[in-house]
Amino acid sequence: MSIWKRKPLAQLLAEAADSEKGLKRTLTAWSLIALGIGAIIGAGLFVRTATAAAQSAGPSVTIAFIVAAIGCALAGLCYAELSSSIPISGSAYTYTYATMGEFLAWIIGWDLILEYAVGAATVGIAWSEYLNNLLVNVLHVSPIPFSLSHSPFQTNLETGEHGIINLPALFIVGVISLLLIKGIQESAFVNGIIVIVKVAIVVLIIVIGWNFINPANHAVYIPQSSVFTDEHGINHSYGGILGILGAAGTVFFAFIGFDAVSTAAQETKNPKKAMPIGILGSLAVCTLLYILFAHVLTGVATVEDFRTGGKEASVAFAINKYMIGYEWLGQLVTVAILAGFSSVILVMLLGQSRVFYAMGKDGLLPKAFSDVHPKYKTPYKANLVILVIVGAFAAFIPGDIVGDMTSIGTLFAFVLVCISVIILRKREPNMLREFKTPFVPLVPILGVLVCCAMMYGLGWTNWLRLFAWMALGVIIYFVYGKKNSKLNNTGE
Ligand code: ALA
Repeated sequence: MSIWKRKPLAQLLAEAADSEKGLKRTLTAWSLIALGIGAIIGAGLFVRTATAAAQSAGPSVTIAFIVAAIGCALAGLCYAELSSSIPISGSAYTYTYATMGEFLAWIIGWDLILEYAVGAATVGIAWSEYLNNLLVNVLHVSPIPFSLSHSPFQTNLETGEHGIINLPALFIVGVISLLLIKGIQESAFVNGIIVIVKVAIVVLIIVIGWNFINPANHAVYIPQSSVFTDEHGINHSYGGILGILGAAGTVFFAFIGFDAVSTAAQETKNPKKAMPIGILGSLAVCTLLYILFAHVLTGVATVEDFRTGGKEASVAFAINKYMIGYEWLGQLVTVAILAGFSSVILVMLLGQSRVFYAMGKDGLLPKAFSDVHPKYKTPYKANLVILVIVGAFAAFIPGDIVGDMTSIGTLFAFVLVCISVIILRKREPNMLREFKTPFVPLVPILGVLVCCAMMYGLGWTNWLRLFAWMALGVIIYFVYGKKNSKLNNTGE
């Protein structure tokens, strides 16, 4: 029994052929771009941008978006090669099982919980912020009390009230998990509408907000290096290059989801051409929108705003405070964002259930994770476990912390994916690749470097959290996975 045992490619491809039989090649490059944008624009833009400006970079958060986009583009090209040659659900977990063996596959599968489950919790918490904004500024009723809409680690800066549980975040995660158990998936039509609404809102804010930019807020575009201590007593490098790298790690969250494009390789017409257009196209559209949006947001409101009153529901706050006469825009943004966040949560929870399902089938997690509901044909037990995990994070941990944990976990997964491409080119040179990453090994190596730089920027508290999470994963593997893995117990 070896922890380095790799799942034979032939076996993987046979499983792929079996499970994905009948998928029609219907997606074009355009539909891939829409798929990407639908999964991408969410809490990262509408919540994390202001956090990154407040804690790390001030207006230079725009430069941070460029750094994050470069990292994503490089890793995205690697994702595209792997998904076009190993087209089976389970994403990076499955690719690693074939390339680097069981132990690292488990590590990446465990790490993906940070991307999908903890990421869904982050968006759920953002949903909770904007729900309170909906109650107060759109419906003009009382908000949900601070104590019932915040984690126990948060305190109201004005009243001193402590949080107990974030009920709205728990609620939205619960509702969407139940929908997933019933087998609701977003249709291409609904996705199309959500994409149009999201992009329209972002463009409206950019165009209208441009006139409200106060040049004084941009006078120092890259602040001088200093230290900012947040409400939890954690120090962040503010300003300078380190500030930009830290902000890049934070806003990297806004790009998560583009890898969803790479999982659609089998349903794409002419994937060789459409895949890179889909991945790079959705990244390019989002990057352009993000830079302009961040430029407007940090021009309209001050960094001090985002550290105090505008810390939550930052975009609506900035509009309501500074864009007099455009309160309707603040209201429209709030309603649209609540719908937009819900669709992002759905995509993330779906991704998590696929990874758990694959791990349950492989024996690395209990078989129950791959049990399919007799009527709805969904991995309902996996969904219920995910509901408990995501619900706990959403209810009891602050958004800033789960947001950065998502970023660092996903960056780590990207690093492993980039390395996988190089290894697989050596080990399986003749494997059929419908899409090939250009300039190997340069592109994967640069991908590793840029992603590691962002991980570095996120600071030692986040390294420690990642390390603790991974250590827990290693223990679970040796206590459970290694003994129960199907591949390891085939008697070879
Ligand atoms: N990119 C997604 C968001 O920003 C996860 O919400």
